[in-house]
Parts: sequence; C-alpha cells; structure tokens
Amino acid sequence: MDIKKVVVIGSGTMGSGIAAHLCNANVPVTLLDLTTEISEKARDRIHKSRPPLLLDKTKIENIKVGNINDNFDVVKEADWVVEAVVERIDIKHNIYEKIFKNRKQGAIVSSNTSSIPIKVLSEKLTEEEKKDFCITHFFNPVRYMGLLEIVKNENNDLNKINSLKKFCEIELGKGAIVCNDTPGFLGNRIGVYAMQVAMTEAFRMKLSIEEADAVFGRPMGIPKTGVFGLYDLIGIDLMADVLKSFIKELSDNDEFQIVAKEIPLVKKLIDTGYTGRKGKGGFYRMNKSGNQKILEAINLETGEYTTSKKIDLGVETVDINNLINRKDKYGEYAWEVISKIIKYASSLVPGITDKFNDIDEAMRLGFNWAMGPFEMLKSIGVENFFSRIDNFENNKFLENLSKSKDENFYGERQLYTDIETLGKIRPTAIKVDKNNSAEIHRFKDFNIVEFTTKACALDYDSMDALKNATDKPLIVMNESMQFSAGVNLSYTMNFADKNDFKSIEKFIKYFQDTCKTLKYSKYPVVSAPSGLTLGGGFEVLVQSNFVASHTNIVVGLVETIVGLVPAGGGCKEMLWRWSQTEEAKSDPDYAPLKVFDIIGYAKTATSPVEAEPLKYLKPEDKIIMNRNSLFEEARKLIHQNNDFVPPEECKFNLSGKPLKEKMIKVLEKLYNEKIILDHGMHVGTELANVLSGGDTNLDKTLSEDDLYKLELDSFMRLIETKQTQDRIKHTLSTGKPLVN
Ligand code: NAI
Repeated sequence: MDIKKVVVIGSGTMGSGIAAHLCNANVPVTLLDLTTEISEKARDRIHKSRPPLLLDKTKIENIKVGNINDNFDVVKEADWVVEAVVERIDIKHNIYEKIFKNRKQGAIVSSNTSSIPIKVLSEKLTEEEKKDFCITHFFNPVRYMGLLEIVKNENNDLNKINSLKKFCEIELGKGAIVCNDTPGFLGNRIGVYAMQVAMTEAFRMKLSIEEADAVFGRPMGIPKTGVFGLYDLIGIDLMADVLKSFIKELSDNDEFQIVAKEIPLVKKLIDTGYTGRKGKGGFYRMNKSGNQKILEAINLETGEYTTSKKIDLGVETVDINNLINRKDKYGEYAWEVISKIIKYASSLVPGITDKFNDIDEAMRLGFNWAMGPFEMLKSIGVENFFSRIDNFENNKFLENLSKSKDENFYGERQLYTDIETLGKIRPTAIKVDKNNSAEIHRFKDFNIVEFTTKACALDYDSMDALKNATDKPLIVMNESMQFSAGVNLSYTMNFADKNDFKSIEKFIKYFQDTCKTLKYSKYPVVSAPSGLTLGGGFEVLVQSNFVASHTNIVVGLVETIVGLVPAGGGCKEMLWRWSQTEEAKSDPDYAPLKVFDIIGYAKTATSPVEAEPLKYLKPEDKIIMNRNSLFEEARKLIHQNNDFVPPEECKFNLSGKPLKEKMIKVLEKLYNEKIILDHGMHVGTELANVLSGGDTNLDKTLSEDDLYKLELDSFMRLIETKQTQDRIKHTLSTGKPLVN
C-alpha cells in the first residue's frame, strides 16, 4: 500500500502538527476543519511556530486547506485520512460516517485520540470498515516528539497496519510502536503515573517543589522541567482532565487510582486561574518587582509563593544507583518514586504490551526520558532491587525476575523496529575506553564515540576520547537529546575564575589539534548529529569527513553571544566553504564578509534545509528523518569509503587590513544604531581580525595552522576580559545572552 496523499481532519494543535510533518516528508496533504478560515489560521500558526514545525518554511503552501462541507471530496483521493478533531465521541462518530462514505476503497482511516478506546471509536463501523481503521497517536509537538503509538482492532488487515507503520517510520521518521487498546496506551499510562507519583510523594515527604524537580529531573535522566515544571507547561487544568479520564477508564483496584486522587491545592490553583504557564502562573510563577522578574515557587503546605531556590544535587550525569543510595531525603525520595514506577510499569506486562522493552522506548520517545523504568531497574541491579523492595504480589514480571535473578534480563534497546540502531548494537560492542566525558566503543571494524556529559558539552576529556578513537574509522554520535551544545562553559570559567588562562589555552590547542586529527586521520570520520550541534559541537562536525544528520538539528556557531570567537576551526572551515563559491572566485572579500555576517550574528539553522544555504551543511551531507537510522546511515558512509583518502589541506588568501576595515565599518553602523554595545564592538573586531587573516595581504598564502593561531589568539584575548566573563556567567546562570 502506497501513501501518496493524506487528508487531516481537525486543524488544532495536533492536526496542524501532523499536516506540517507530512509536509516535511513531502507528502501532499490537505487540512480540513469546520471552516476554511480555521484551517487557514492553523497554517499561519504552523508558519510562525517556534520551535518551527516545518523543516522548510517555503513549503508551507504545500499544505492545502479547506472545510469539511465544501472540500470533503479530497477524501476520495486520499490513501490515509487522519482524524484529529476534539476529543468528543459523538463528533468523531459523525466524521467517521462521512469519511467511510467518501473514502477510496481500502484507504486507511485513523484517529489521533489520546483517551478513547478503539473499541468505542469503531463501534459503529462495519466489519469491512474496521479492517482499515486504527489509532495513530502522535505526540505534541509532532515534528519533535519521536513517539507514534499505533493501536489496532481485532479486525485489522495486519499487512496494512505494517505498511502504515513502515511509512510512519521511514517517511515520517517516527518510532512507531504497536500497542494494545488500553487507557493511555503506553506513554501516557506510565508517563502520567510517574508524574503523579513524583507529585504525591513530594507532598507526603514534605519536599519543596524545587527539590522534587531537582531529583525527578536530570539526575534521573528526565527533562529538567521535572514534575511541577512539566505540570505548569502542560496546563494544570488539562492534567486534571487527563486524570479524570484515567479514573473513569481504569479499574478501581488499579494502582493509578491511588495517585490520581484530587489534591486540594491543585484544585485551588485551577479555580483561581493558576493553570500553569498559559494562565497566571502555576506551581511556579513570574512575579514582577520593579522592573525585575522574579521566579517564585509555591509552598506545597501553605500555598504561599516565595522566591524560588536553586537546588544543586551536585550530580552531573545520570546514575540511578548513586541517586537512590544517597543518605539524604533526595535519595529516599528518588527510591520511593523510581521503585513505584518500576513496580507499576512491570505490573502492566503483558496487559498493555507483552514487550516490556516497548514501555521503555515509549518513555524515551514520548517523554524524552534517557531511560525507561526497566532500564532503571537494570541499572539498579536485579539483586539490589529485590533486596530493597517488599511486596510485589500479583506482579508476574517481578515474580519471574525475582526467581531467575537474571541481571542481563534487559537485552537491547529499540526492539520495536527492524532498523539497526546504536542502542541495539551497543551491548555487543566492546567498550574500549571511558572517561568523565565520553565513551569509546568498538563495533566490528570501526569505533564509536559517544559524549556523555550534560547536553554533551565538550571539555578536555571529550577531545581525548575523539583523538584516541581515530585508530579506526570513527562514528561520532549518541542517543541523548543533543549532539553537543558546544564547549563546556563552566569548565572554561572554572579556570578563568582562578586566572588560570594557561589551562584554557592548553585546552583550546588540544581542541584544535583533535579536530585536525579528525579531519586528516587516515580513516574516515562520520558525525551523526541530532538536536543541538552548536559552537564546539559544530566544529567537531565540520571537521569530520562525512555527515549523516537528523532532520531535527539546531546548528550554528554561537560563540559571539558569550563574547568569544569560534576557536576550534569553525572560522577556518566556514571561510573555506564560502571561498569555494563562484562569487568568491571574482571577489576575495566575498567569503570572509559572508562568514563575518553568519558568525557575527551567531546565526543558527533549525533544520538541515536551513543549514545548507548557510553552509553549515554541504549538499552531499545525508539528511535523515528517523533518528533511529543515524547509525545505519553513518555505518554505510564508512563502508562506502573503504578507499578513503584524507582531504587536502586548505589554503587561504585573505586581504588583511583593508578587509578588516570593511568589517569594522559594518560594526560601527551597528554600534551607532545601538544594536551592539562596547563589548559587542570588541568581540566583532576580534572576529574581523581572524576572518581578514590578521597581518596579511592577498599575495600571502595562509595555512590552516595560521588560521587556527588567529582563532586561538583572539579567543584568549577575549576570555581574559571581564566583559566576556560577565557574558559567560550570565548565560550560565540564566540561559540567556547578556548584551554589554
Ligand atoms: P484542538 O482543540 O486543538 O483542535 C481540535 C480541532 O478540531 C479544532 O480546530 C476544531 O475546530 C476542530 N473540529 C471540531 N469539530 C470538528 C468537526 N466536526 N470537523 C472538523 N473539525 C472539527 O485539539 P487537539 O489538541 O489538536 O486534539 C485533537 C485530538 O488529538 C484529540 O482527539 C486529542 O485527544 C488528541 N491528542 C491531543 C494531544 C495534545 O497534546 N493536544 C496529544 C495527543 C493526542
């Protein structure tokens, strides 16, 4: 079955997200709503969305819009009709009647419902119609969330379900998991339960909301919004509706009922308009005092707000065992929450799915957890877990495991897909080396380096791992959210605070040296990024020989924001790329001025399609919709390049002083318009110095090492200034840029 045309009915949050993502996959799609005006507004929202739902905004017109009365004929042509209207069964039933009257014979019809069972959705369909009907439950925002739950009914034509799964996997890049028709399916059943446990335990153990979020967050491999922050993000009122639906659908003796009970403080928040970020605030709120915004947190006992306190557990990496073994209230809270989640999730096997592995994957893809409950159990250790847990009656999974005591029960990741992923091969790869920031694995005839720090920020150890891994063909990739957010600024600031600039210089030199080794190693180096690929992360990518990029990347050189210039070869490589253009052949200043504009403004691209015109990516770099396929594609690149020869060294002829003056003119204009301030001028001047070639002229040829030296000197001069240090400190503490 080929899916060539799709109609999406309902153009709200989900319908518009699904239509945008079909557009990303170059599939013709029509979005229908009650009126054409509503669907047109949805298309505007798609265009303006941030982070963008489209890979390429210029394709917005490929999403056709219309209304369900005048334009329903489009359904006759569609191979797949997705219903994403409001969660009301009467409305959905009416729509199905109309769709099935009009659809092309054999076309698939699916619902995006998050809570209505398929047996209820399909109760008015004929046996023949049921064959082609299923649930396709996408997550919001559709482009970015990897999970797609497909729920079958007993009449389904399984070949068709399989080809839909393949289409969603390959064309839409989703982790498509087929699951049973049970409330909340996999992701929401466990994810919402986990949130409720984290919340009720915080109340019971009298933790502050900041403390709970500090534990039920990064240390557990959960996004930093934690539980209370996530509640505010989703909407406290919406969560209350979700809970009501679970209470209604689940049996009275389901453990979920215990944690889903209404909490008086939560009810009060909703009643007074404190519904979260979209309302007056929620568990957290922003309070204005003078012209300062102050983040406040609610006290769970009194309901009063006070200035939010940052809680630092001193944990940089996810280590579940360490966390639950802490001899403080955080360790105790972590154990209470994690053990309950493991108990609940395992009690639902085989009810919600017979493959426990799918539950973990649903949590990773749908909630961005670094690991699911079963992988948490694996890292706690089976024996250790059973020595601490008391009762697990009627839990077949735990009963069996307690008997087998099989520490290796987990096996590979991503069993739901045929794609050979990094998660699948990791258990069979040889761990060659590991330091505080990275791991080297050897798989067959090549190495893999995975960065392991927070946001995969880079330091001396990350570079060390890369350098040591070039004794074989190398793939640089990982399974965490970011490829790399750049050089670890705290690491750099620690030296700066001690006036130890020698160590910073040593690190930058080592960074450059490593990138050079990557580029000229006798074996090919492939970078396979997903997520943030910024600053130093981009410099690793740009000095790799090949790139296989996920469509969800954010890529760019952003150093100027923190008062620095790229010094790991970023300026050099961008200069080289732009100097290969037609325009650069007739104008020696064309490339440096272009790069000055791109790096000066710290331009970022939010997809490979946006990255190419900036030359952050090259036309030959591979673009991949499904993140799971990054490993296979990277591996293909290595094997296709058995006869790899390293590139030739780049040479540069730059104008020097007159070019620098041109750049300074640009800066002066910005300065006069107050777009940049004193330090902006200083940073821009250093960048101009690098990109103009310093003390040179067009007759002199500069080597890559000359450019590295210019980058390093400018970087060092800048990091020694108080203003750059102020920028870095500000960004580290607020996540925002400082304009000085
Ligand atoms: P929404 O309220 O944002 O949009 C619903 C859209 O349906 C509106 O544009 C409305 O005008 C339209 N509509 C209502 N009656 C219609 C009809 N008879 N014909 C055509 N269009 C009609 O809702 P949202 O959030 O997009 O949810 C849609 C579905 O997706 C629901 O079933 C919901 O449970 C499910 N869902 C929602 C998620 C979310 O995060 N919002 C996540 C996953 C699933």
